[in-house]
Amino acid sequence: MESRLKAVIFDLDGVITDTATYHYRAWKQLADELGIYFDEKINERLKGIDRMTSLEIILERSPVQYTQEEKEALATKKNDLYKQLIQTMTPADVLPGALAVLQALKQRGILAGLASVSKNAFTVIDKLQIGQYFAYIADAAKITKGKPDPEIFLTVAANLGVAPQDCVGVEDAAAGIKAIKAAGMYGVGIGDPVMLKEADEVIPSLEQFDLERLLARFAS
Ligand code: BG6
Ligand code: MG
Repeated sequence: MESRLKAVIFDLDGVITDTATYHYRAWKQLADELGIYFDEKINERLKGIDRMTSLEIILERSPVQYTQEEKEALATKKNDLYKQLIQTMTPADVLPGALAVLQALKQRGILAGLASVSKNAFTVIDKLQIGQYFAYIADAAKITKGKPDPEIFLTVAANLGVAPQDCVGVEDAAAGIKAIKAAGMYGVGIGDPVMLKEADEVIPSLEQFDLERLLARFAS
């Protein structure tokens, strides 16, 4: 059976590894220090969103106005906390199912790409020791428009040399699914079907990622 499916483009935080919880812990510590209310529900809006935009969302509840310089210092503080948290990561922190999917793609000759807006993505991939599975990893520093803009997914597809309609995107964030759909790709959501209602399908984790079924869906 011939399949048009040529590439699967993954988000990193919350899809390949559980760094979404580390981002939350670092933001929570900063928000607590600033006396700003912050919880897991507000945190949902931060998933897939770049560092400075995430800070702006947290500061919506701040009675204090911060200058741009102060905001940059706050973002750096959060990032320092986050970098400490990811220091201890090892290959054991790859989420269940992720390695099996990456291996299956390799075996099938389907390209894997990484579309994370995190400037720490290369460090995390190094810690997890899974760099060899990805034919292309986006450099977040070179992406001008974050998710839900499709730029990062389109950049990865272009660098893989694959048309967007021949790609599957995998995301745990609503903003990420919007980006995948805006790029014209098939979107697989990981997590809550209500939160990720714009996805073409939602599965609890990569353990349920069924490559053979997707290949059949893309049959030409
Ligand atoms: C995304 C996360 O992958 O990266 C966001 O979902 C995070 O929560 C963003 O804010 C940017 O990450 P970093 O590491 O550049 O601050
Ligand atoms: Mg994510």
